[in-house]
Amino acid sequence: MNILIAGGAGFIGSNSAHYFRDAGHNIIILDNLLSGFEENISDIIDDKGVKFYKGDIRDKGPLTKIFSENKIDLCINFAALVSVAESTENPALTEEINTKGMINLLQFCGKNRIKTFVHASSAAVYGDSQELPKRENMLPEPKSPYAISKLAGEYYNNFFASIYGFNAVNCRFFNVFGPKQNPESQYAAAVPIFIKKALLNKNLTIFGDGKQVRDFIYVYDLISAIEYLINNADKIGNKNTFNIGYGNYISINELSRLIIKLSGSQSEIEYSEHRAGDIKLSYASVKKLKDFGWKEKTGFNEGLARAIEWYKENID
Ligand SMILES: NC(=O)c1ccc[n+]([C@@H]2O[C@H](COP(=O)([O-])OP(=O)(O)OC[C@H]3O[C@@H](n4cnc5c(N)ncnc54)[C@H](O)[C@@H]3O)[C@@H](O)[C@H]2O)c1
Repeated sequence: MNILIAGGAGFIGSNSAHYFRDAGHNIIILDNLLSGFEENISDIIDDKGVKFYKGDIRDKGPLTKIFSENKIDLCINFAALVSVAESTENPALTEEINTKGMINLLQFCGKNRIKTFVHASSAAVYGDSQELPKRENMLPEPKSPYAISKLAGEYYNNFFASIYGFNAVNCRFFNVFGPKQNPESQYAAAVPIFIKKALLNKNLTIFGDGKQVRDFIYVYDLISAIEYLINNADKIGNKNTFNIGYGNYISINELSRLIIKLSGSQSEIEYSEHRAGDIKLSYASVKKLKDFGWKEKTGFNEGLARAIEWYKENID
């Protein structure tokens, strides 16, 4: 297949580009490098079968060029303003990129008769409802412009699937971790920050009491779930939405201790004030995904060990 990966220079997008290229597909990456890095994909660009277009999903120019030069079968859209905090500070920009940009992409994809469009949605659509685990048929309670835009993306994906006849797949990612996740970003996630600090023997800071729990999934298991949904589109039916996590949870206290242990670190744990808006408990029901036959290949512990190995080799 010819796969268009929007946001393909970012953390999940660049790992996906490597994964699907290794599986024998042609990869076309569109990214404006807002939070992604060309070095995440520099080892595969110019390789036969991988093309990089620097551009914005909101612009017609790069998409016109891409679709005139390539016959696209499948689009996976990772391109987004990804920070919840930044989305709260700048809701209009969030809407501009995550919703209007996605509409632009969906229209190009539809008019050019792609077969499948995968939307990278988020567990954030569930908000902080107390019901656990989070099931796909729960009423969404998005609590930030980021979460609202991710939910809108699901509806637009389904809407344009009806208009143009492609398959719409909506994936609600839980907390993803693995190689190339940026620990330096202002809004970096816990796993890369903890790993980097542990490898440097610096103290790990936990916000709040550390009893908050999350469903962390290794990026290559997440990508294998996306691949499974694409390959079994006929079985799963059109306009379907799936949680992608392990259906397990770990507290931030346990996570920090495990990272210190696995990296053989001398770091200690320190506590800081609870961050406003931090959700206490979140983990996925993955019954729907598993009932369709997906099985994880790596798992949390092995994934975490592999992520630590990657940071050991790549940390500055
Ligand atoms: N990382 C997670 O735990 C997680 C959880 C839930 C959902 N998601 C979703 O998965 C997707 C990928 O997340 P990530 O963690 O890899 O983030 P990331 O910031 O590493 O990747 C996003 C990529 O999109 C690009 N981009 C942003 N705006 C663009 C635009 N207008 N045009 C073209 N490219 C643009 C960025 O440069 C970056 O390369 C995002 O849509 C995010 O909302 C991620």
